[in-house]
Amino acid sequence: MKPEDIYILAIESSCDDTSAAVLCNDKVLSNVVANQEIHAKYGGVVPELASRAHQQNIVPVVHQALDKANIDKKQLNAIAFTQGPGLMGSLLVGTSFAKGFAQGLQIPLLAVNHMQAHILAHFIGDDIQEKPAFPFLAMTISGGHTQIVQVDDYFDMTVIGETIDDAIGEAFDKSAKILGLPYPGGPLIDQKAALGNPKAFQFPKPKVNGLNFSFSGLKTAILYFVQKNTAKNPNFIVENINDICASIQYTIIGIVIDKLKLATKGTGINRIAIGGGVSANSGIRQALKDGEQKFGWKTYIPKLEYTTDNAAMIGIVGYLKYLEKDFSNEQTTANPRFKI
Ligand code: KG4
Ligand code: ZN
Repeated sequence: MKPEDIYILAIESSCDDTSAAVLCNDKVLSNVVANQEIHAKYGGVVPELASRAHQQNIVPVVHQALDKANIDKKQLNAIAFTQGPGLMGSLLVGTSFAKGFAQGLQIPLLAVNHMQAHILAHFIGDDIQEKPAFPFLAMTISGGHTQIVQVDDYFDMTVIGETIDDAIGEAFDKSAKILGLPYPGGPLIDQKAALGNPKAFQFPKPKVNGLNFSFSGLKTAILYFVQKNTAKNPNFIVENINDICASIQYTIIGIVIDKLKLATKGTGINRIAIGGGVSANSGIRQALKDGEQKFGWKTYIPKLEYTTDNAAMIGIVGYLKYLEKDFSNEQTTANPRFKI
């Protein structure tokens, strides 16, 4: 007999994207993301504006997700939501909505760790994408996080390296800001890097022992580099933008690949799965593919829509928790510092 299909509504509101998804078992029926444009003019996410925008977006986004999935709310078996980590005000919107909706429908709640979700996004049922076998290394690289995690099972994860200051996405965005590029600058650096010489300029790599990362020194080095050169030539940035972007990106890729080499050597695990918005970076993707030839790695990159913040990844964790009957209740509160 075919086991009963499980329908889960998932809600993600940890930072600046309001997202809702509907899953049937491990398959995504809909995955709606409302990006918040409001932050661009401030050059970064403004927490208070983010929570206000979540409040405006959440009801229409959930409706849209249910409509697209062609599912009536009465068919839902459970509601999954991001408990943390993230911005308190933003998390509260999703958490409160999920609690109210679940209570109204008399169905269980599933509290999800956002960082686990970036990793378990690799298990979204998709006939095209290959799923990593356990154990594997997961590298989550985004505007808020930079982590390497050893994943021994779905819910058996150990953080083995993380940033001690800025996240990798911040390194991209802050460098872009110094160059006068709009927020978020990561994708722009990527585009311009493709047209430039990655060895035109040299930036120092941070000296951080072990598997931890540091990016704040790089940002400072780029600031001094730009100040020094524009003092000599006011058009320095405009004349060299592609080469500067290519050199910055080359430095960041070098930092990432060095750490992955260390991590694979130290753990003896050569399967690497990446996630988070920065995994869209074409240079990082290429360097990982090259690593398959050079270092014998097997790399896994999920579809772009599942790497940036999205509710489908919250839904897959919800589904895995549902199978384990790992439900939460109305007492569960948002946890901005929720660890893996
Ligand atoms: O995961 P994400 O959508 O949101 C969170 O930060 O949680 O990641 C956004 C980050 C931003 O820092 C953005 O600049 C960066 O991902 N990003 C990129 C690229 N696309 C997005 N960084 C470098 N190259 C890209 N192609
Ligand atoms: Zn994220």
